[in-house]
Amino acid sequence: MSEHVWRHLNLCPNGDPDASIEDAALAVRDGTIAWLGAARDLPREFDAWPSTNLGGAWVTPSLVDCHTHLVFGGHRADEFALRLRGASYEEIARRGGGIVSTVRATRAADEDALLASASARLEPLIAEGVGAIEIKSGYGLELESERKMLRVARELSRCYPVSVYTTFLGAHALPPEFAGRADAYIDEVCERMLPALADEGLVDAVDVFCERIGFTLAQSERVFEAAQRRGLPVKMHAEQLSLMGGTALAARYRALSADHLEFLDEAGVQAMKEAGAVAVLLPGAYYFIRETQLPPIEWLRRYDVPIALATDCNPGTSPATSLLAMLNLGCTLFRLTVPEVLQGVTRHAARALGRGDRHGELAPGRPADFVVWSVSTLAELAYWMGRPLAARVVRAGATVHTAPVSPWTGRFLDTCAEAFQRSAQ
Ligand code: NIG
Ligand code: FE
Repeated sequence: MSEHVWRHLNLCPNGDPDASIEDAALAVRDGTIAWLGAARDLPREFDAWPSTNLGGAWVTPSLVDCHTHLVFGGHRADEFALRLRGASYEEIARRGGGIVSTVRATRAADEDALLASASARLEPLIAEGVGAIEIKSGYGLELESERKMLRVARELSRCYPVSVYTTFLGAHALPPEFAGRADAYIDEVCERMLPALADEGLVDAVDVFCERIGFTLAQSERVFEAAQRRGLPVKMHAEQLSLMGGTALAARYRALSADHLEFLDEAGVQAMKEAGAVAVLLPGAYYFIRETQLPPIEWLRRYDVPIALATDCNPGTSPATSLLAMLNLGCTLFRLTVPEVLQGVTRHAARALGRGDRHGELAPGRPADFVVWSVSTLAELAYWMGRPLAARVVRAGATVHTAPVSPWTGRFLDTCAEAFQRSAQ
């Protein structure tokens, strides 16, 4: 049996700074939280347990990245360069570039190559405190290649200290071999791909890109029906480039989340509220395609729809491998508040995965998955741009990452990490 008490920390148990506990203690038995609260209330029974003094460092739950396309072949830096010369994301997609060019590269890559390139994107996320991540398929667009992507996503969870939730996004784009036959492709998605992949245990949820350059409402609904027949939860890339009404459809199917939402109207927000869906905002994509239409933040607030933030890590619209960067963009571009963005990558993001019971919050009986931060206030997590801030990443009570030692001075890069390391020795 392993028993440990983490002492002298400032604890933010669920991402809401108002719920923080100063000078807290956290007792962990066999990877599970046995007790947490103010240090002065720590029951005597824990006094004899080995302990670590965190020197007043901030601790939050591990972060949750609830919308990514982390597994893909190649990249689209060349397309980025084209966009800088004036072409829009939508024009490039219509000319056979965009998603379809990543489909070509993904189909051509084997599992080892996909695993290696996805690992290079996953590692920085884990190092900054991500403990759960959603990974979508959607660059294979035929059974074998979609299977390959989902198998790689599952393999990542075996190779790394992170929970991976897979989403089947067969309806991401029309593959070239189905040009002009979108309905026939949707038949393939619903009748062949989804059933086969679900039977293999590769699918945790089902997503659709409902858009002018994606799929219609009627096609999206067919995918949702197929998911429902399998008992799988749904979510949607909705209202990213235009108002299609996909969010209201997603709400009717009790979607876990509707994502992007720049063009969402008030009726759609109301539908989300009634369905209990999470609004997943993706400021990296908004920034990278230089969108100017802001998501309806005020309506989301007014209707009290939970807001999550994610990287949307993908080669076309958000080549982002930092969730903390999304906190900064969420605040600067969307004018979200610090409490909103912190909850957006903890409890609300966990709820968007349908795993609010497992991630995004620290409480007795839950896994001891947390991050010790090198910051003196929680606002710093949204404030710094590009600076590593996780002093220590803990999963099931075990340290899985620590801030690196400076190669120049041999010292830890910041005072919190140093204080922590000293006390841990
Ligand atoms: O989340 N909107 C559709 N899917 C991705 C973009 C995919 C791509 O361009 O490769 C997104 O923005
Ligand atoms: Fe996406």
